[in-house]
Amino acid sequence: MANNNVPLKQMPEWKALEAHYNKISKTHLRELFTTDPKRAESMTVDELGIYFDYSKHRATQETIGLLVGLAEASDLREKIEGMFTGEKINVTEGRAVLHTALRAPKSATIVLDGENVVPHVHAVLEKMERFASRVRSGQWTGHTGKAIKNIVNIGIGGSDLGPVMAYEALKNYSQRGLTFRFVSNVDGTDFAEAVIDLEPEETLFIVASKTFTTQETMTNANTARDWALKALKDPAAIARHFVAVSTNAEAVSKFGIDTANMFGFWDWVGGRYSMCSAIGLSTMIAIGPENFRAMLGGFHQMDEHFRTAPFERNLPALMGLLGLWYNNFFGAQTIAVLPYEQYLKRFPAYLQQLTMESNGKRVTLDGTAVDYQTGAVYWGEPGTNGQHSFYQLIHQGTKLIPCDFIAFSKPAHKLGRHHNLLMANVFAQAEALAFGKTAEELKQEGVKDWLIPHKTFEGNRPSTTMLMDELTPAALGKLVALYEHSVFAQGAVWRVGPFDQWGVELGKVLAGRIAPELESKTDPELKHDVSTNALIRRYRKNK
Ligand code: F6P
Repeated sequence: MANNNVPLKQMPEWKALEAHYNKISKTHLRELFTTDPKRAESMTVDELGIYFDYSKHRATQETIGLLVGLAEASDLREKIEGMFTGEKINVTEGRAVLHTALRAPKSATIVLDGENVVPHVHAVLEKMERFASRVRSGQWTGHTGKAIKNIVNIGIGGSDLGPVMAYEALKNYSQRGLTFRFVSNVDGTDFAEAVIDLEPEETLFIVASKTFTTQETMTNANTARDWALKALKDPAAIARHFVAVSTNAEAVSKFGIDTANMFGFWDWVGGRYSMCSAIGLSTMIAIGPENFRAMLGGFHQMDEHFRTAPFERNLPALMGLLGLWYNNFFGAQTIAVLPYEQYLKRFPAYLQQLTMESNGKRVTLDGTAVDYQTGAVYWGEPGTNGQHSFYQLIHQGTKLIPCDFIAFSKPAHKLGRHHNLLMANVFAQAEALAFGKTAEELKQEGVKDWLIPHKTFEGNRPSTTMLMDELTPAALGKLVALYEHSVFAQGAVWRVGPFDQWGVELGKVLAGRIAPELESKTDPELKHDVSTNALIRRYRKNK
């Protein structure tokens, strides 16, 4: 059992890592590869179809052992069990955290407050399947009897990023006759552009909001209702053109959506962990119920792996602990996520909410301010675009940026040499980052002395390469669950609560105060700081 009375940095396991860091932090990856020729085998985990190569990390077997020791001393195993069994680990909101139940098989039993939640999960999944099949087959018609051709998901944060990421990722599995759009921003441009070429008669809106109170989503939903009614005239049309995904039946019915057309979920599903819930309705309509089930299957496999695999071979634990190694010992601030797969173009954006809204915390669960770094900044772009943009800084800049390379052996589209070239690039980048190019090598190539410093690549830039077979729905499920659980593993060690997000509240409150000041017909009395007051006045004058 961890002794939470001992501050994290005072734990012997932490101190051992500090000492180890001092010993190996200067060691170059070139040396690590020379002294351990079996590294590519010993520092690779091949599980669930993911070849997870972490050999190009500034770490040894000893590092992994020490990190695992820290995880164990932090009760990671017990904490995982607590999450999977419905303990109320989201303490500031008094909630269980059971997104893993969303992908549990029908035969599973997960009891929360005396009730098995799994039948409820499957009842909603079946309702989603019936609805998705009707839309896909054209049986679900709009108010004028025309089949639905366009699906617009209105939501933000977890009610948008999961659906949009999954739609983009699995586009190749989607029913191409249907058009999908995603509206999230309160900036009217987002809505206007999303519907610019759509026929209201053929358009279905999914209003996705866990709370059904989020300002952006409700504003867009009201605008969508006006847009639909302007063309369809009859308020009865709403029932055919609007469905809701929410935990708040009362607000859904107040908005005018029949709760028969509502797909529910539960307060034990966090927004950023909700893409397997009814929030995934647009995904299911796009790729079909069978593919959606396959995706859930992938998630579930990773859930089981996280729950049972020893930490030394546990993909999410390893990913989380390696991230922590750089964050807390090397002082790295960010992690770049670099999918060499165009369909994953929204994956980094999705991960930003998942990771940063979860572990961007400055106090531990008991409210004590931390004296160590917590969540890293996640960012990235699909390869090879990033190579011609920001990779320069990763290769030769002054910052240490661990990279996650994600690649697939089989291309979605077989086109000439494209895939070989794509893969050549991802392997080359990881190699160049790790091993660089020495002044000596440049000299031998005849590079002039004055150019040598510019052309030298120091190397020793760490990366993980995740090589999977093919981007299938199941593969996507595994990948997302891998990151979800890596966030959990880190949060467990940092002692923070990854499942609340109080940091987004203040801005919401202040915007609620400022909006009427911007809209007031008479000059409002402004009581903000002088900078904010001046901005408000200038906007009022110029709008
Ligand atoms: O940004 C805060 C947040 O609460 C996210 O955690 C959530 O995913 C998003 O807003 C949307 O919330 P809702 O689904 O309730 O509209």
